[in-house]
Amino acid sequence: MSTTASGPDAGEAVAGGRARIAERTLRTDRWWLPPLVTDLGLAAFVVYATIRSFVRTAYWVPEYHYLTPFYSPCLSTSCVPGSSHFGTPIGALPGFIPLGFVVLPFLLGFRLTCYYYRKAYYRSVWFSPPACAVGEPHGKYTGETRLPLIVQNVHRYFFYVAMIVSLINTYDAVLAFHGRTGGFGFGLGNIILTGNVVLLWAYTVSCHSCRHITGGRLKHFSGHPVRYWLWTQVSRLNVRHMQLAWTTLGTLVLTDLYVMLVSSGVFGDPRFVN
Ligand code: FES
Repeated sequence: MSTTASGPDAGEAVAGGRARIAERTLRTDRWWLPPLVTDLGLAAFVVYATIRSFVRTAYWVPEYHYLTPFYSPCLSTSCVPGSSHFGTPIGALPGFIPLGFVVLPFLLGFRLTCYYYRKAYYRSVWFSPPACAVGEPHGKYTGETRLPLIVQNVHRYFFYVAMIVSLINTYDAVLAFHGRTGGFGFGLGNIILTGNVVLLWAYTVSCHSCRHITGGRLKHFSGHPVRYWLWTQVSRLNVRHMQLAWTTLGTLVLTDLYVMLVSSGVFGDPRFVN
């Protein structure tokens, strides 16, 4: 079908093509700002997590069993004693391999392929498209049907691993209710670790892949009441996915920073019990 629009500003739209206007866009708002801010925030997180994963210090507080999520699970004999909640099936690691090498690729991969973040870098890095009503440099739009963007389809598998990572972080948070001399203990670090885990679960479960897994590929819900209920709960969280994406970037960094500072002796952990 051919559509034609004409006017002093609208230019002309042709079948299967774009409006013929001299300007790249007629938009006057700062359409580039939101994706740029998202990109910078995500890039800062990737840099921080990568650096912290390589430093190999101040990731474990032995008195209270606080372990930063960037080093969990710590499976190598290079890990400090006590920090390996799942044993040390791997021998000593050379310094160029992060002790949290098992989790780091999935932690970053899950974020980088997240629908929310990819929206930002498709716009500000890949320019496909840069924004509504802004001309793009690509000859045609191919979405995620070709390389390199077709790789984004691994997101579902990152989601499965993220569920396992959330379980591991939950286990770590439970073990962290540890007193200075053993038994039960409870301090500010527990609130931070537990809060981080709860929000990580919310972010992970609100994933678009999770929504599809619970409710997708069905012709009707009437014969699948359990899946319908699950899909409804996931959908409730899913509308908050953007907020959860940002919040959990912050809580991951906050949790790691807190463990790092307490472990380094910069300040002590305020204790409520023991
Ligand atoms: Fe964001 Fe899956 S869509 S984590």
